[in-house]
Amino acid sequence: MKILGIETSCDETAAAVVQDGTRILSNVVVSQIDIHASFGGVVPEVAARSHIEAILPVIDEAVKPVGWDNIDAIAVTTHPGLIGSLLIGVLTAKTLALTKNKPLYPIDHIEAHVYANFLESDFLTNFSSPPTSPSGLSQATSPSSTSRVGTLSLGQPHRSSSVVNGSEKSVRKSVPEFPLLALVVSGGHTQIVLFRGHGEWEILGQTRDDAVGEAFDKVAKILGLPYPGGPSIAAAAKQGNAEKYQLPKPKLDTPLEFSFSGLKTALLRAVQSECGKDFTFPSSQLAELLSTVQRNDFAASFQKVAIEILVDKIESAFIDYQPKSVVIAGGVAANTELRRQLSERLPIEINYPAPELCTDNAAVVASLGYFVAQNTKPTNPADISVTPTK
Ligand code: KG4
Ligand code: ZN
Repeated sequence: MKILGIETSCDETAAAVVQDGTRILSNVVVSQIDIHASFGGVVPEVAARSHIEAILPVIDEAVKPVGWDNIDAIAVTTHPGLIGSLLIGVLTAKTLALTKNKPLYPIDHIEAHVYANFLESDFLTNFSSPPTSPSGLSQATSPSSTSRVGTLSLGQPHRSSSVVNGSEKSVRKSVPEFPLLALVVSGGHTQIVLFRGHGEWEILGQTRDDAVGEAFDKVAKILGLPYPGGPSIAAAAKQGNAEKYQLPKPKLDTPLEFSFSGLKTALLRAVQSECGKDFTFPSSQLAELLSTVQRNDFAASFQKVAIEILVDKIESAFIDYQPKSVVIAGGVAANTELRRQLSERLPIEINYPAPELCTDNAAVVASLGYFVAQNTKPTNPADISVTPTK
């Protein structure tokens, strides 16, 4: 069964075709990161307008290698996300479901992130600047037979994304087994979720305040590192000393809950103090007072503790629930320090998803769509709406 997935919940316009929930036949992502970078974060109105421009070309490119006749169903993210962004994907999916006469399945974005772990990643994962084909799709120089991950260049230099190219292969060794414990870590969510089967899941704990990705983004702003903060903190941290600044972990009475706002404030106070300023000094003016060495040391010290907080909790959930598999999902799952610490601390082999499947994409939406379609009737397009906060 071939499912077209559509994803527009935040600032990536994405479409992908996945066969039987596991095999990626096409995977196209147009990222708006460069547009939002100058604002230091995602501007919802701008995001929605950019989705309008990109959505049809992105879907065209994803369907092209397969053909509409061979698409069995459409799956679209309906929640959670930015309302304007979600609406563009959902309205497009509803229209296509009606005009192409395809069954339609509404998809939970957070649940979908976990399905990065069910996708085969025997496609090429070494990213570099691609040549652009005449169609506008930047393509792998030597794509594997059935898979293609690409980006559209829509003639706007401020759009960015990456494309597969070549030399490195990452092959999933085994599919996750139930019960599985998932650590879902993104810009909007930090959750430990226990899956007993497809569609049978329970949130064991989540953040009380900031999501971990949000904390990375806010700390990057304080340090003067570019948006999105996760990758730029990770890059700066590689050059820094993670032991330089001692930042506190929260002490919560609920063992599987998270909190990141205290860590973020502790980092702010440490930067103010390092710069010889008191707590009234504006955070927006601190970055220019930091040397590169200080900035890198702060990035490394913050990253180490933020990741330790995640790993402490997942270790404790692992002891309590004894799952057969542990998986990570969401944008922060691309973080290599998270992967390093998890492998060190958990007595179980973890198959990490390819980083490009951790951040927002539609392959995970199409994958979950397949498993939903096994047990559920499609939803009437007229009954599908967006639920931004659910
Ligand atoms: O899942 P995602 O692409 O979008 C949401 O659904 O939120 O996650 C985006 C988040 C951002 O906060 C970004 O800073 C973070 O994931 N992120 C990372 C890394 N790559 C992306 N955080 C830490 N390390 C990374 N390498
Ligand atoms: Zn996401």
